[in-house]
Amino acid sequence: MPRNRDVIASPPGTSAGGQAPPIGVGILPQVARQFRFGMGRTAHAGRSDPPRPGRLGAVTPAPDPGAPPVGGVRTTRRRGRTSAAKEAALRDLLPRFAAPLDDPWPASLRSALDDDRPIALDIGVGTGEATVAWARDRPDLLVVALELHRPGLARLLDDLEADDPGNVRVAEADAHALVHRCQPGALTAVRLLFPDPWPKRRHVGRRMVDRAFAAAVADALAPGGELHVATDWDDYAEHARSMVAAEPRLVARSGDRRVDRPTTAYEARGLAAGRRITDLVWARR
Ligand SMILES: C[S@@+](CC[C@H](N)C(=O)[O-])C[C@H]1O[C@@H](n2cnc3c(N)ncnc32)[C@H](O)[C@@H]1O
Repeated sequence: MPRNRDVIASPPGTSAGGQAPPIGVGILPQVARQFRFGMGRTAHAGRSDPPRPGRLGAVTPAPDPGAPPVGGVRTTRRRGRTSAAKEAALRDLLPRFAAPLDDPWPASLRSALDDDRPIALDIGVGTGEATVAWARDRPDLLVVALELHRPGLARLLDDLEADDPGNVRVAEADAHALVHRCQPGALTAVRLLFPDPWPKRRHVGRRMVDRAFAAAVADALAPGGELHVATDWDDYAEHARSMVAAEPRLVARSGDRRVDRPTTAYEARGLAAGRRITDLVWARR
């Protein structure tokens, strides 16, 4: 367990999938390597330094961070080049590991894959090491990884090709939009490890977790299903608590059970900067 990790809440012993949540604490070798050589090769370089308004796109932050999004929420910026090798990985491997996203979703995914395992949504997976670890620890789940940053997705696809746990599907898709059109009660877990923090006050409206997101997750989760958010920004943790508190169908889990998961690339940066890690878990009534 990383020194500064402050586990505020932990998953229940059972979920709609009927088993314990993901296991595996400690910096994965790939993450340690990334961390050692800097984050420039990943999706996360400078992620905690969001763009100045007007420079990279015209998004007006919502005046009320909990207000429902109008015309979608811009929760990230696309940056960096995708190298030829990464484009090749996307071209060659995405067809093999892609998660169908047609409506009605996830019925379309199930029928295309002929897979009836409980579905766990991993949002903003970066380069996806924690996704693969989750899938490996929970072969009873079908883990759907969503990411908008193509180099990160390419890295995940390379890892899946090298060692496929057999239960990961990947999509380059906006998680906010997908959660909103998910069929009711169709998911057993929704996880966001280190969503873009958008720490500046004027960017708070870009945060993934808002009241509309909490309501959509509550719709999408089956009873007993879980929402798990981890962050290295105290202010984001407070924000997430207050946004989800407005959703009566999601109940905060508390207790002394720890949240087991690998340390992610982005988390390692937060730890190095001395930030406290908070894991928050809510269960669907
Ligand atoms: C701060 S990074 C964290 C990555 C990884 N979870 C980790 O802990 O290392 C946040 C990630 O969320 C992705 N992201 C942001 N908004 C998203 C959205 N609406 N849909 C899918 N991914 C998104 C970003 O591209 C970025 O890679």
